[in-house]
Amino acid sequence: MQRDWDARALENARHYVATGRTDWSDEDFFASGDRAVSEDVLTDMTNICQGRDPKRMRVLEIGCGAGRITRALSNIFGEIHAVDVSGEMVRLARAALADRPNVFLYQNNGEDLTVVPADALFDFAYSTIVFQHIPSREVIENYVREAGRLLRRGALFKFQVQGETRLATDPDDTWLGVPFSDQEAVEVAYRAGFEPRYRHGAGEQYFWLWFFKK
Ligand SMILES: C[S@@+](CC[C@H](N)C(=O)[O-])C[C@H]1O[C@@H](n2cnc3c(N)ncnc32)[C@H](O)[C@@H]1O
Repeated sequence: MQRDWDARALENARHYVATGRTDWSDEDFFASGDRAVSEDVLTDMTNICQGRDPKRMRVLEIGCGAGRITRALSNIFGEIHAVDVSGEMVRLARAALADRPNVFLYQNNGEDLTVVPADALFDFAYSTIVFQHIPSREVIENYVREAGRLLRRGALFKFQVQGETRLATDPDDTWLGVPFSDQEAVEVAYRAGFEPRYRHGAGEQYFWLWFFKK
């Protein structure tokens, strides 16, 4: 996964992050992150903040890519800690977010969150268009368990997986990730110590899950 994503980052990072364009300007690329966060985060602050002041919240992002979403999250929340398997993506994100003292970026090993300091618990975890690329069910489930290890009780892990279960996947293909049925998503949640309170988009590419840490 690291090798493939480094190669994509070197070829055209922003295109592989958001495939709608091949020639993203800085402005448009980060505006697309603002739009995604407006739709998925700002409309959902009751579940996300649970009465907390966002500026005092510590947020975890899995798969930050070139910092598109991370930048938007850093405008809203107190502290963002973000991981990505690709050192090249992390290098681009560091350059793009150098003006953000509240952002902490880590290259991880592509399967767990041991690289993230566990000195304080997180208040919210988020991941978009990342698990839809991971070709291993075990790795995705491990990330869910790891998010659970780092979140405070009651906190939300909101993330998207591939929901198109008819797709044929290949364990060596790091573009098309393993799909989850609604039932499989529910089982993952309970095994990892979460309540799968809401789910949206089962059967579709953008299958969103709201897992609350028990
Ligand atoms: C399509 S990009 C999305 C980036 C970001 N979430 C966004 O929306 O701008 C997918 C990102 O997931 C990262 N990624 C893929 N597999 C990963 C894994 N196993 N662990 C961590 N990051 C991974 C890739 O390196 C890439 O940066």
